Amino acid sequence: MKKLALLTLSALVASTLMAADGAALYKKCAGCHGAKGEKKALGKSAPIAGWDKAKLVEALKGYKAGTRNVYGMGMLMKGQVASLSDADIEALAEYISKLK
Ligand code: HEC
Repeated sequence: MKKLALLTLSALVASTLMAADGAALYKKCAGCHGAKGEKKALGKSAPIAGWDKAKLVEALKGYKAGTRNVYGMGMLMKGQVASLSDADIEALAEYISKLK
């Protein structure tokens, strides 16, 4: 029983930390994508709130690698994600996938 409680607790702490990270990182995205990811960034992108996490990770890594360009603004997004680590991208994707 004690072990189970401990496991539950550490899972909770881990997910809270992840959420905090993602939320902090998302602040610089909110100007274009909206506080809840509900906007079409610069009138171009699709609203990103609630996207599947895997799809978000793929999109962000694509921009970082310079291989994604859906609406002709890929270079702009590359600048936004260039300095993010894989862990940052994971945390952001986790956070955005839960926005509604
Ligand atoms: C200066 C405005 C701006 C900021 C800041 C910005 N974005 Fe974007 N974002 C865009 C535009 C414009 C596009 C469309 C790019 C293209 O042509 O593919 C886009 C596309 C995206 C897409 C793909 C959407 C689609 O329709 O395919 C995702 C996911 C995304 N951004 C996430 C983020 C995240 C996460 C951040 C913060 C780290 C961020 N953006 C910061 C403007 C911005």
